[in-house]
Amino acid sequence: MTEDNKKPDNPERRTFLRKAGLLPAGLYLQASTLTSAQEETAIGRPVADRASMAGHASPVLKTVRVGVIGAGRRGDTILRLLGGLDGVEIKAICDPYQPAIDSAKQLFAELGVATPVMYDNGDYAFRDMLARDDIDAVFVLTPWSWHTPMAVETMLAGKHAFVEVPAALTLDECWELVETSENTRMNCMMMENVCYGREELMALNMVRQGVLGELLHGEAAYIHELRWQMKDIEEGTGSWRTAWHTRRNANLYPTHGLGPIAQYMNINRGDRFNYLTSMSSPALGRQLYAKREFPPEHQRNQVSYITGDMNTSIIKTARGRTIMLQHDTTTPRPYTRHNLIQGTNGVFAGYPDRYALESEGDFHEWHTDISALQARYENPLWQKLASDATASIGHGGMDYVMLWRIVYCLRNSVPLDQNVYDAAAWSAVIPLSEASNADRGNSRDFPDFTRGAWQTTPPLEVSEYRT
Ligand SMILES: NC(=O)c1ccc[n+]([C@@H]2O[C@H](COP(=O)([O-])OP(=O)(O)OC[C@H]3O[C@@H](n4cnc5c(N)ncnc54)[C@H](O)[C@@H]3O)[C@@H](O)[C@H]2O)c1
Repeated sequence: MTEDNKKPDNPERRTFLRKAGLLPAGLYLQASTLTSAQEETAIGRPVADRASMAGHASPVLKTVRVGVIGAGRRGDTILRLLGGLDGVEIKAICDPYQPAIDSAKQLFAELGVATPVMYDNGDYAFRDMLARDDIDAVFVLTPWSWHTPMAVETMLAGKHAFVEVPAALTLDECWELVETSENTRMNCMMMENVCYGREELMALNMVRQGVLGELLHGEAAYIHELRWQMKDIEEGTGSWRTAWHTRRNANLYPTHGLGPIAQYMNINRGDRFNYLTSMSSPALGRQLYAKREFPPEHQRNQVSYITGDMNTSIIKTARGRTIMLQHDTTTPRPYTRHNLIQGTNGVFAGYPDRYALESEGDFHEWHTDISALQARYENPLWQKLASDATASIGHGGMDYVMLWRIVYCLRNSVPLDQNVYDAAAWSAVIPLSEASNADRGNSRDFPDFTRGAWQTTPPLEVSEYRT
């Protein structure tokens, strides 16, 4: 099993990037001489003479020929869904872990379609896959520290990159994604599947139709008890993800809750994240869990867990709006992403779904029956795909809707709903929350990854979801 503890950032890759003109020697050396704390808070890159990728539509692909890197738990879901979509051919799969390759083979036998070519020869076998000339799009479904390196090399190989969340772990990586996408004109979409949830897309429709009035405030979270993953020791998500709780005191996984709120607020399309302040609670739960569940000499009891059990950040946008964002994968409590969006006329919130609108009279009580809203504001994508989506696997249908939409955009030369600036801004919360928390909650600025284009990029309209 490939651990991601080692930095998959070999010198060969840096040389490769520099030769390709993506890392000007001076620029990279300058970044590499920063201490890690400085690097986390470095906010600027020289203004580059490159066209923005905002609104970029890539040429029509009649068939989307796909390569997949990482055939673990997430890989299984994505492969099953992609395998059933019209206009998709899965050409190759890469994973150095033999049981993952074996179960992918088994899956294609079940689906009754040709088995893709398998690449399993070590951590860098994905480069052999990227050298193929019959792949248009690569799905990066690996542990976190591989996301940016693999997405960057995918784009350099002339293929669109679809990368799991979070897309990047440092500000340097965020910029690397932006610069590579701009230079290569290849799409880089972080697959924030929650943006395709039925309720999230309905709320987007309500916001665009002005039902909530002018937007003021949002609340987002990833509160999901995942201590049980610590029992993945040799393989599985917890075998690599647990290690992050010993490395960084930050919001480790910001994008599921934040993505939809960012879309409601037109972040990078009329507004942008300006600065953030963040604080973490004590980190107690994982140590207690390890003591309770493992013998004293077990490796889970030989480390200290430093990620505060609950991290709370507040983001201020350029237009003055606020977003409260939380991360907690440790405490015993029910799952929530909050999904609260507040405007001058009222509020919509999730977990459970509820709303209150001044225009409908009583806003002192929550209305928990949202069927009238669904009848009026269902997103066109869900109107079209609901029966297939709800019958499919993957987070209540949002994974199906996301993949269907990606394939539709690529086959029809339609700009993707999430671009590289979204991937960068949403992922930047990780290093910024870490730096702010380490400095008594003093604020940290978000880089403007769009280099000003947020002011002129039009909002993502619900009408764009009509197909
Ligand atoms: N969007 C969502 O709802 C969602 C849900 C689950 C997981 N995820 C994300 O998906 C990613 C994968 O998570 P998972 O649960 O499938 O983890 P996993 O550990 O089950 O699978 C990861 C796979 O990547 C492979 N891998 C590691 N290094 C590799 C390399 N160098 N080359 C090729 N393959 C390599 C591993 O062998 C493993 O099979 C993570 O980033 C996770 O955060 C997203």
